[in-house]
Parts: sequence; C-alpha cells; structure tokens
Amino acid sequence: MARAWTPQSWRDMPIRQVPEYPDQAALAAMEVKLGRFPPLVFAGECERLKAELGRAGEGRAFILQGGDCAESFSQFRTDDIRDTFRVLLQMAVVLTFGATVPVVKLGRMAGQFAKPRSSDHETVEGITLPSYRGDIINSAEFTAAARTPDPERMQFAYLQSASTLNLLRAFATGGYADLHQVHRWNLDFVGRSPLAERYEGLAQRIDETLNFMAACGMNSDNAPQIRETAFYTSHESLLLPYEQALTRLSSTHHRHYACSAHFLWIGDRTRQPDGAHVEFLRGVANPIGMKVGPSMEPAELVGLCRLLNPANEMGRLTLISRMGAAKVVDRLPPLVRAVQAAGQKVVWLCDPMHGNTTTEGQYKTRSFDAILDEVRGFFDVHAAQGTIAGGVHVEMTGADVTECVGGAHRLTAANLGENYATFCDPRLNAEQSLELSFLIAEELKARRVAPERPARAAE
Ligand code: PEP
Ligand code: CO
Repeated sequence: MARAWTPQSWRDMPIRQVPEYPDQAALAAMEVKLGRFPPLVFAGECERLKAELGRAGEGRAFILQGGDCAESFSQFRTDDIRDTFRVLLQMAVVLTFGATVPVVKLGRMAGQFAKPRSSDHETVEGITLPSYRGDIINSAEFTAAARTPDPERMQFAYLQSASTLNLLRAFATGGYADLHQVHRWNLDFVGRSPLAERYEGLAQRIDETLNFMAACGMNSDNAPQIRETAFYTSHESLLLPYEQALTRLSSTHHRHYACSAHFLWIGDRTRQPDGAHVEFLRGVANPIGMKVGPSMEPAELVGLCRLLNPANEMGRLTLISRMGAAKVVDRLPPLVRAVQAAGQKVVWLCDPMHGNTTTEGQYKTRSFDAILDEVRGFFDVHAAQGTIAGGVHVEMTGADVTECVGGAHRLTAANLGENYATFCDPRLNAEQSLELSFLIAEELKARRVAPERPARAAE
C-alpha cells in the first residue's frame, strides 16, 4: 500500500541537502507569504509538456533541456535571458531542420537557483562557514552574514523567476521566435566563426522553405507553428519549503501541481527512495525528472520508477543519465534493460555535463570532446538496446564565456580565466552549444528513422 501523500508529507521523511535557517519563524512566515502568491505555471501547460515529453520517449520528438547550472541574482539581466533563449532556439532549429524531428524546448531557467553541495561547510584559511547553496538560499561571498541561509531570498527568487518567465513567454509567442527571424538569432560575437557560416547556410535553407510554404498559402499569419513556439521551464526540486509553498491543487485537473516550473527534477544526491525529495515529487502531477548517476543500481532504479510513476504514464518520468563519458557504455545498459524488463515507461535523457567535470588549476571545467563522447555513448547504448534516446540536458549560456575547454575555437585551460562567470558548474558558451547541436543533429540523422509520417490512405 502506498503511503498517503500530501504537499507536506515530505516533512516526515529524512532529508538531505537542507539549509539550516537560524530564524525558523521568518522561514514559516515566508512560506505562508509565497503560498498566497500566484502560481508561475498552470496545470494545463504541465500536461501539454507531459504529452510532448511522452512523444520524445516514443521517438517522435527530441528534448532539448538547457540553461545555467545556477541562475543568480547578480547576473539577472535581460540580455543574458535573451541570449540564452536565442541559443536554445538556434540549437532547436538545427535539430529540427537537420534531423527532421520536433524539438521540445525546456529551459533550466526561471527558477534554477538551489544547488546541492558535496559538503555542508567550506573552510578557507582556518575559517569554516556554511557552503554556498544557491542564491535562493544564501550568498556566495565568504562572510558569515552572506552564508547564513535567509528565507527572504526566496521572495526575490520567486520574483526573478516570474519576471524571467514573463520575458520568455513574450519571446516565445510575441514574434521573436517566428521562424522568419532565424537569421537574426545569430549572435554577433559568433559572427566570423565557421559555425556562424554553417548556421547561416541552414537559415538560408529555412528561408527558402518558408518562401515555398508562403507560396502554398502558409505563413506567420495563418500558421501559428511558424510564428511561435512552446517553451517550458524546469529546475531541480531541491528547496522543498519553497516548492511546497508554490504547490497548488488544480481545480480543473483535481491534482496537485508544483507551480514553480513546468518540470522539476530530483538531483543525483537526493534520490533516496525513502527520502524527502522523492516523497515530494511522487505526489505532484507535473512531468518530473530524476538524475541517474553511476552509483545507481538496476533494482533500485526500477523501484524508484514505480514509486515516481505509479500509473506508468509515458511522459511523466524522465530519467536523466549522467554517467560520464568513461562510464556510460558500462553503467547505462543494465539500467536501461532493467527498466525495460519491468515494463516501466520512461523517457531517457542524456546529461553529458555532470559526469565530466574536471579541475584545471582554480577552475572547474568540462571538455567539449568528453561531452560529445558521452552523448554518442548514450546514443550507442539505446541503439544497442532497442530503446529511445529522448534528448539532451546541457548546462549552457548565450554569453561568450570561457568555462568549458575544446570546441571549434579550441579553448584550452589557459583560456579559462578570460571570462569565467558561472556561479556553479562550467557551461558551454553560445558557440560550443551551437556546435554540439550540429553534431547531435548529424548523429540523429544517421541513426534515427524519420518521425512518423501520416499513414497513406488505403487505395
Ligand atoms: C545539476 O544539474 O546542476 C546537478 C547538480 O546535477 P546532479 O544532481 O546530476 O549532480
Ligand atoms: Co550543474
């Protein structure tokens, strides 16, 4: 018998990665306040995303999930939101056109603030303070005041999320994402790179296609698919007091939805079957994800699938594999086989970032080649098992940062200091992201059959 779920039943379970708020009364007051704020997303949108993810799980679409490792209050700028959105659009268009597959666009945006840490404390020159856990919890500066968890920060995170989401919705439906703008999405600083030329070539072919369609009578005025796109938001469901406060009972769907984002996932450090984070997400009706790292065992994974997706609904549960390039071909197959043998319907996604982090001097970095290797390994495993590689999950930004090494410009460890701006893990920059999407489109084209064509009428 499954135990009863309520939005607060996670409070009875053991919890990891939890900040210690010294002022519990202020925390409780903030939870009440957030509980009265408007939801950021609506049940119907979450259901639509669930259906789209389900199509990807069946091989009829491809998921592109991407954005910052951690959003921050200090880098909250229109240009950054626009540039990241723009690169995601470019990547999606490369995948859609290159691989002839619809792309589900899911931002790690508008709420990706809370970070799990390997240690609760950090010691610098003999001084020990709480670790930085993301701007929704505390501040990165190394002072006792900055590192003290402050519930007030949840309010700013909510407002920043609302404002970011408002801009994303405007971009997605207000004309910016119109396919006729495909040339204008090319970023200036990528201007002279071979990638920009390759992208321009593709944009030109899209133009020709649009002209042909217009001649046939389909244009932005009468075909919303050309004019606008669906864009969804996601983040790690880590700070449960915040997530609970934004959970609402849908009056049309009669289920609880976590309304801080369309899609929430459980991180690799908080996926214990009897833990608070699994407990919270198992009861909300959103599409949800779970990171699956190299320590996951097949039986444990099957148990988690049953717990998180009791109705065995395709699109409800996305397993985000993050094994590392060296381990993916060994660790992933037994997991894929076990899930398949148990008849569990899941979407498999590849996070080629979190298993490939290395340190170069003072910087955490990732190599473009390792990232691509893991994606290829992930595709190989699914091809061999006869299962579906549903998409990719990347940490990226539209900014011209130097955080990951490799890529077309062959960034090296010596370049990392030039513009290392992340608040947490190293991200692909705009050009590296675009390059990755071209390479993935090639892989898809080579490996996948084209999406379903309408059946021919019987003759
Ligand atoms: C992340 O996605 O930023 C993250 C912390 O990932 P993981 O839980 O896979 O380590
Ligand atoms: Co990260």
